[in-house]
Amino acid sequence: MEQLKEKIREQGIVLSEQVLKVDAFLNHQVDPLLMQQIGREFARRFRDQGIDKVVTLEASGIAPALMTALELGVPLVFARKHRSLTLTDNLLTARVYSFTKQLESTVAISASHLAAGERVLIVDDFLANGQAALGLGAIVRQAGASVVGIGIVIEKSFQPGRRALEEQGYRVESLARITSLAGGQVRFLD
Ligand code: G4P
Ligand code: NA
Ligand code: NA
Repeated sequence: MEQLKEKIREQGIVLSEQVLKVDAFLNHQVDPLLMQQIGREFARRFRDQGIDKVVTLEASGIAPALMTALELGVPLVFARKHRSLTLTDNLLTARVYSFTKQLESTVAISASHLAAGERVLIVDDFLANGQAALGLGAIVRQAGASVVGIGIVIEKSFQPGRRALEEQGYRVESLARITSLAGGQVRFLD
């Protein structure tokens, strides 16, 4: 997706060979028009899949996932990472290990918001090792629903996430695929 790559080239900051900072438009400040274009692009790629619901993980997945859900005309459900006063009953959960942060956390969605038989599109902002998406996929399956695809805004193709997801049989669609951050330079696939 050309607009996204342009934005990354203009406003992305390479923090290390492993980490790209995109706080100017995705992870802190959010560019609504870009999110709308991202939502349209995911909707275009998955429109024929009979999607009932978009699922993401708070916080940074919500903006692109919401715009995707709007374009598809379906609800968005975001998994929570933290305990909530009101999120009490019937939780579907998964343990997610973050290699980046070197810690394990529990993510949860109430069973009230995922029903058996539903067709779910998972959307997330970054794909690194794929652990967040695998955890969301496990939650969707616990509900008896199915994952029809995974939409990723920025894929770090030099990390093992895509392979891990494809090994589980998931269709992965990434809008920007980064092959390297070496030398402070962002290099894209194709
Ligand atoms: P994984 O799910 O693919 O295994 O990723 P990992 O655990 O390594 O990611 C942990 C957090 O770091 C996630 O955000 C993820 O989006 C983010 N992340 C991973 N690589 C990058 C990167 O190169 N740049 C940026 N900006 N973020 C990266 P999170 O902890 O869930 O936080 P939030 O942003 O949703 O609040
Ligand atoms: Na993030
Ligand atoms: Na995320």
